[in-house]
Amino acid sequence: MAYKDEQLHEEKVFKDPVHRYVHVKDRVIWDLIAAPEFQRLRRIKQLGTTYLTFHGAEHSRFNHSLGVYEIVRRILYNFKNRPNWNDDERLLCLCAALLHDLGHGPFSHSFEKVFKLDHEHFTREIILRDTTINAILERVEPGFAQKVADVIAKTYEDKLVVSLISSQIDADRMDYLQRDAFFTGVSYGHFDMERILRVMRPMEDQVVIKSTGMHAVEDYIMSRYQMYWQVYFHPVTRSAEVILSKILQRAKYLFESDAFTFKLKPTHFMSFFTGDVQLEEYLKLDEGIVSYYFQLWQEEDDAILRDLCERFVNRRLFKYIEFNPNLQMNTWMELYGLFKEAGIDPDYYLVVDSSSDLPYDFYRPGEEEERLPIHLLMPDGSLKELSRNSDIVESISGKKRTDHKLYFPNDFVEKLPDKHVKKRISEILGLPE
Ligand code: NI
Repeated sequence: MAYKDEQLHEEKVFKDPVHRYVHVKDRVIWDLIAAPEFQRLRRIKQLGTTYLTFHGAEHSRFNHSLGVYEIVRRILYNFKNRPNWNDDERLLCLCAALLHDLGHGPFSHSFEKVFKLDHEHFTREIILRDTTINAILERVEPGFAQKVADVIAKTYEDKLVVSLISSQIDADRMDYLQRDAFFTGVSYGHFDMERILRVMRPMEDQVVIKSTGMHAVEDYIMSRYQMYWQVYFHPVTRSAEVILSKILQRAKYLFESDAFTFKLKPTHFMSFFTGDVQLEEYLKLDEGIVSYYFQLWQEEDDAILRDLCERFVNRRLFKYIEFNPNLQMNTWMELYGLFKEAGIDPDYYLVVDSSSDLPYDFYRPGEEEERLPIHLLMPDGSLKELSRNSDIVESISGKKRTDHKLYFPNDFVEKLPDKHVKKRISEILGLPE
């Protein structure tokens, strides 16, 4: 029997707190899960620094990837024998679902920002270069790895297949909303996925929702909206992220300066600092390694690196206030000067962070990050865009919300010896004098 059709003698199941069980029958999927590049995802947390805000959020990208696979598996089970669905695409969809986050590194968000990396680039590299994952995919048929990479990059010709993995209602989002809600323990993020899966229908170029399932979809959109502001953009999580980014920035700066010698040489960060990250090195860096360095860098001879690492390890985070630098330019300049005067380096200790989200959008062709809208399948067979039928969705459609915060170490300000400077900084930042 061809490798692509090979089935396990007995179905394997993974116990999963969100979907109850994840079922695996295909030999190819089983082999992919066992590959070292996929096992590595166990050592990368799904939500980065969120565990410092919600202590339950220690789940990994491994959990999430299995979850996305399981949702797609269930959707395709329902699609079997429906018009518009070609079951030859089944294995391709399952592989793309399982591998869609393969290139995430430790604390991706901060690493990508500081070192200008892109996890999607590494996902492609792992799938296409000389890896165990690539060997498995190429055994399915020559060129199969490229197809999987194309589905994940959204460039694959069959848009129905692409929309299962990435659209405004895809398996990826449906998994992470429920999973992140479960592990953080918040009461948002829940919706009736069983119902949504039952009313999904394949069309030529996209998945659509039978109009009778509209309210379940409304619930899903709202839970996404709430999860962004209550969990993903939580200001305390962002404070930890700010500190993490500043540690990386400082370590890079010290690495580049001739006057400094690390006690613990940053071997695993070398290619990140020089800007030439090779796949092999990328795969070696997981969150365990990063924590190891942060732990030991608390002993380095640089006061800023030491302090920032100590803050991250012991969760001594920065305080924050609402602050929009575009509207408060003068205040920003004054604060920057005062911090300098007080000997608190503002390049590390005065940080503006902005987060924005667009909960749902209708179709705007040609615009940046063009999004495919969710379509309802009406009883007469016509399609109607979701926000035209749902008042709830309409009310948040196309509305981008941005939140700006200013982060700083209030403990440093409190300890300032110069009463004058301290008073003025405290005034601006709203601290007790
Ligand atoms: Ni994902």
